[in-house]
Amino acid sequence: MTGLGSVAWPPAPIRTERLVLRESEGRDRPAFIELFTSPEVGTYIGGARPRAEVERLAPEVPARRSGSFVAERDGTMIGTVTLVRRAVEQPERVRPEGGEVELGYMFLPEAWGSGYAAEACEAALEWLAGVLPGEPVVLTTQSGNARSLRLAEKLGFTEVRRFEAYGAEQWFGARWTGPGRAS
Ligand SMILES: CC(C)(COP(=O)(O)OP(=O)(O)OC[C@H]1O[C@@H](n2cnc3c(N)ncnc32)[C@H](O)[C@@H]1OP(=O)(O)O)[C@@H](O)C(=O)NCCC(=O)NCCS
Repeated sequence: MTGLGSVAWPPAPIRTERLVLRESEGRDRPAFIELFTSPEVGTYIGGARPRAEVERLAPEVPARRSGSFVAERDGTMIGTVTLVRRAVEQPERVRPEGGEVELGYMFLPEAWGSGYAAEACEAALEWLAGVLPGEPVVLTTQSGNARSLRLAEKLGFTEVRRFEAYGAEQWFGARWTGPGRAS
């Protein structure tokens, strides 16, 4: 996976009703460590990683790269939203040449159940539609990840196909914008 290529990064911070989406900063490091070591967050994405290892390996400013947003509420990071271009070799695709932009999201458990993930993802997708008009966005999530699946459908993703990987059924969906499509 790569960033977003020629798209200028970072954009000015994006403000929503309750959140700010921005590039990551050094002060977000503890929240990133919580995300990667939380058993609840890891349930459907490969499990929690050992805290000592994460604390040792996490860069001073984690995830500072094109397409990687931190979602902040009241001055504190509560989660991440990522938009990255997939490798062209990926077998799941919605256009012949592959290499679509993929949406990912991870929020701290105490921030679940308040609509923050949806609010942050909608803002990130709106930003993407502005810089790459008409670009389809794909998403892969375990079919058993009910919260994630509900969020994907709320954001306007529809199922393309299901497949087996990492010992579980995966849901691959896509969202199109542009004339005649949901925005
Ligand atoms: C996937 C994930 C981001 C979903 O978080 P979430 O908080 O459930 O998602 P949303 O932002 O859509 O919030 C929806 C919930 O907020 C509730 N809510 C409360 N106030 C709300 C408001 N003002 N606006 C919207 N929804 C609101 C909704 O009713 C819904 O509750 P429910 O789940 O009890 O039905 C979260 O579970 C997570 O980080 N999981 C771990 C990482 C992961 O698996 N990522 C997927 C990888 S592809």
